[in-house]
Amino acid sequence: MNVSDSERAASLLYKSGFELADSSDTADVVIINTCSVREKAEKKALRRVEEISRSRKADAPLIGLMGCVAQLEGASLFETAPAIRFVVGTGATERIPQLIRKAEEEKVSDLGGRQLPFESDIAPVARRSARVAFVPIIEGCNKFCTYCIVPYSRGRERSRPANEILFEVRSLLAQGFKEIHLIGQNVNSYRPKSSAGFEKFQGATPFSRLLRAVASTGIPRVKFTTSFPRDFHADIVKAIEENENLCNWIHLPVQSGSDRVLRAMRRGYKADDFYRHVDAIKGACRRIALTSDIIVGFPGESHSEFEETLRLVGRCGFEGLYIFKYSARRGTPAAKLSDAVEESEKTERFMALEKLQATVQRKIYNNLVGKSMAVLAEGTSAKSSDDLTGHTSCQKVVNFRGGRGLLGEIVNVRVTELKSHSLYGEALGVL
Ligand code: 5AD
Ligand code: SF4
Repeated sequence: MNVSDSERAASLLYKSGFELADSSDTADVVIINTCSVREKAEKKALRRVEEISRSRKADAPLIGLMGCVAQLEGASLFETAPAIRFVVGTGATERIPQLIRKAEEEKVSDLGGRQLPFESDIAPVARRSARVAFVPIIEGCNKFCTYCIVPYSRGRERSRPANEILFEVRSLLAQGFKEIHLIGQNVNSYRPKSSAGFEKFQGATPFSRLLRAVASTGIPRVKFTTSFPRDFHADIVKAIEENENLCNWIHLPVQSGSDRVLRAMRRGYKADDFYRHVDAIKGACRRIALTSDIIVGFPGESHSEFEETLRLVGRCGFEGLYIFKYSARRGTPAAKLSDAVEESEKTERFMALEKLQATVQRKIYNNLVGKSMAVLAEGTSAKSSDDLTGHTSCQKVVNFRGGRGLLGEIVNVRVTELKSHSLYGEALGVL
């Protein structure tokens, strides 16, 4: 989501006559996009402001903050980090060019609301990849999980009209993009005001209808994140089964394996409901990779409740898992709970879960060695310029031997080796 927001901001700036600099060492203006989901990310952004202003003392750039921290903290950031000259809230992205001009005169903060429709025609220079593009379909969140700051920093759910999404996907296809990611805090809560653009498509939910409509554009690969368990419908799995270009990957954050903790988090489902979704996903006729998020050390999480999470992870066979230590966010209901889990205990739970997941994952990855997989050649590998790197349909990173002529192609790769977080292989040919 943040990468997509940064691209949109960069595109707007480019179209307003700004040039995009290669590095913050030479730029005249530096904009830091921020995330406030956990305290660590927030602190890191402010440290970055300090680093830049210290290293560029002689020719100080105009420094601005955008994103969730900007939205939540507003003008108070001018006191916390005096080097900041402008603050752009999550809804004010389209006004960045004007804000920069104003900031040359005085410090400015804009936390105003976003005007739909949002920037969809991203300038190619502002894209991080020429092969994979992010397409927002829904913004904000109405779920109000008790630990989460997002509904406050990004506001209520707003679905983008289907015809606008389909127009963007078709235009990406014409530009040569091979893969799109439909993104949003909860993509499967997608609920546009009208069905304009996808009337012809069937689906048990607006999201599964949208998936079928997007698949019909013929874009080679469609991925989507993040799905919300309570709004998950088996018709999503059916849509994937019906359409080869809907990729074999679902990210479905469970957060905890304990019903009591899930209730305290206000997630709106029980572990059994989650298992039902897992069964639907695992029962698909194509192998679909399931990944998830988990928070350890939510206030009051007992050791036996944590063990329920361990059991769930052992049972679900996630192909990837993001584990987070609970971080209290000011203004959220959970921040008012008194029975905090000790930091050292959180770390222990984090490590125990990480260890279990590593075992689960190694087994899954090991099974892929010797198999051929379709990999989108996205770039050259960071480790060796002789190797290319890309993702499978099931979102595994694969590095492989192959000439630069394969860049941008979907390549058949035979997996030969398992590395710590990726697979290694050799190109067999273009698919
Ligand atoms: N503390 C720790 N992790 C959090 N997440 C969201 N809010 C918090 C918090 N306060 C995690 C959730 C979510 C992911 C994006 O971040 O697991 O799925
Ligand atoms: Fe946060 Fe819950 Fe919304 Fe996800 S669904 S963004 S965790 S409030």
